[in-house]
Amino acid sequence: MGTLLAFRFALVFVVFSVLSLTVTSSSVPAQDLQIVSAERRIDLTSHIVRIFLTLKVENTGTSPASEVLLAFPPTQVKHLAIVKAAATVGKRKKKSYVPLAVNHKVLPDAPNEAQFFSISLHNPIKNGETVLLEVLLVLTRVLEPFPAEVRQSESQLVYYHDSAIILSPYFIKEQTTYIKTPSAKVESLTRVEPTNRVGTEISYGRYDDRHPYSFAPIIVHFENNSPFAVVEELVREVEVSHWGSIQVREHYTLVHAGAQHKGVFSRVEYQSRPAFSGVSSFRHLIAKLPPRVHSVYYRDDIGNISTSHLRTDSLKSELEIEPRYPLFGGWKATFVIGYGLPLQDFLFESSDGRRYLNFSFGCPLAETVVDKLTVKVVLPEGSKNPNAVVPFLVKDHLETKYSYLDVVGRTVVVLEKENVVPEHNSPFQVYYDFNPIFMLAEPLMLTSAFFLFFIACVAYLHIDLSIGKS
Ligand SMILES: *[C@@H]1O[C@H](CO)[C@@H](O)[C@H](O)[C@H]1NC(C)=O
Ligand SMILES: *[C@@H]1O[C@H](CO)[C@@H](O)[C@H](O)[C@H]1NC(C)=O
Repeated sequence: MGTLLAFRFALVFVVFSVLSLTVTSSSVPAQDLQIVSAERRIDLTSHIVRIFLTLKVENTGTSPASEVLLAFPPTQVKHLAIVKAAATVGKRKKKSYVPLAVNHKVLPDAPNEAQFFSISLHNPIKNGETVLLEVLLVLTRVLEPFPAEVRQSESQLVYYHDSAIILSPYFIKEQTTYIKTPSAKVESLTRVEPTNRVGTEISYGRYDDRHPYSFAPIIVHFENNSPFAVVEELVREVEVSHWGSIQVREHYTLVHAGAQHKGVFSRVEYQSRPAFSGVSSFRHLIAKLPPRVHSVYYRDDIGNISTSHLRTDSLKSELEIEPRYPLFGGWKATFVIGYGLPLQDFLFESSDGRRYLNFSFGCPLAETVVDKLTVKVVLPEGSKNPNAVVPFLVKDHLETKYSYLDVVGRTVVVLEKENVVPEHNSPFQVYYDFNPIFMLAEPLMLTSAFFLFFIACVAYLHIDLSIGKS
């Protein structure tokens, strides 16, 4: 009995240790990579933070490595709008970039709940080989206004939190970080020697031989009066009509997401000394629209807003809009922009005979974050089997829309994405099948409506005449 119990114990113990072995081997990332050199450039000149990382990664292990991990503090991950990576091939003038797939990766037992993105290499690196990687990170809503409230005449100051040492699951032999601020007005910064500041640039490092997961928290407190333009919700409706045009309607809920406005707003002061009054507010916004745009309108709940200017050339159109009042911290404006576009610029036929719309995803307003973007592509009546091809992850579903001349309704492809930045303004496609017989549906409806009207008139006249006679 006693021996049996001991045996069971041993068995449980063996099973347990095997389990824990497999868990650790899958959770602790491969340590046979090291970063020979790392350079990080953090651009804080806008409210959207962009980080450019250049990593020279070496395989010091025996087996070939096909993935490189990027580590992030858990608080940063939800602010990440873009993680892009490319391998650099060739040198100097012959340099080119090969885009690489990047995926979110969950590893249990990561130190301090660090989160990971895994970069998949096209060509695995063997022992002693290196690969040069360029990484772009785009972060939103990470600049924290401090003070949280400012008066009309005050400048906006913000905090930026990070680590002076790059968080990484790998040993880093040498690294330097450069931070660019919008102006030389830096209230304070955490020093992790060597730290330097010249004009609008702060440098951290060079730091040598840092162990995996090294971290040195820093705070930079600086002036940033760039427009904190956030669209809380944007619904773009792109309606395709085979009768020659594309109609676009965009509904915006725009907010100034910087420090809250404090005190009363003085329009007199604002207008008489615009350079000193309302530095943290914004007035004008630029919407980048396609060339050959026509029938542009800009309106809100009250009606048309006349303060907009359209400049077009053969490559692009720029619509400058101005809400009815300047936007201060926390203030909102809701408005609609609408325009028409020539069908032949956006509708094509694929090699397998399907039709497709090739349009730009994202928000036309320059340097804007969209919390929630919905793109609705309204296909012509009679379209079948639609499928959307978007170069990043989106949620999608189908809806049906009826307008007054429709017989069976129009298929609407709905695409949704959160945390959208200008880097998401890339082309996407919606493919569909179309039976040209439906081209006749609308005119048929029109003729039959006209015919019914005619009958009604005749009948009315007839009745009228008969009344007249009696
Ligand atoms: C608003 O602008 C549109 C397009 O320019 C125009 O058709 C409409 O008549 C205008 N409405 C008013 C009330 O001015
Ligand atoms: C979509 O349009 C862009 C240019 O706006 C072009 O570069 C791209 O090749 C087009 N894609 C397809 C599938 O037609």
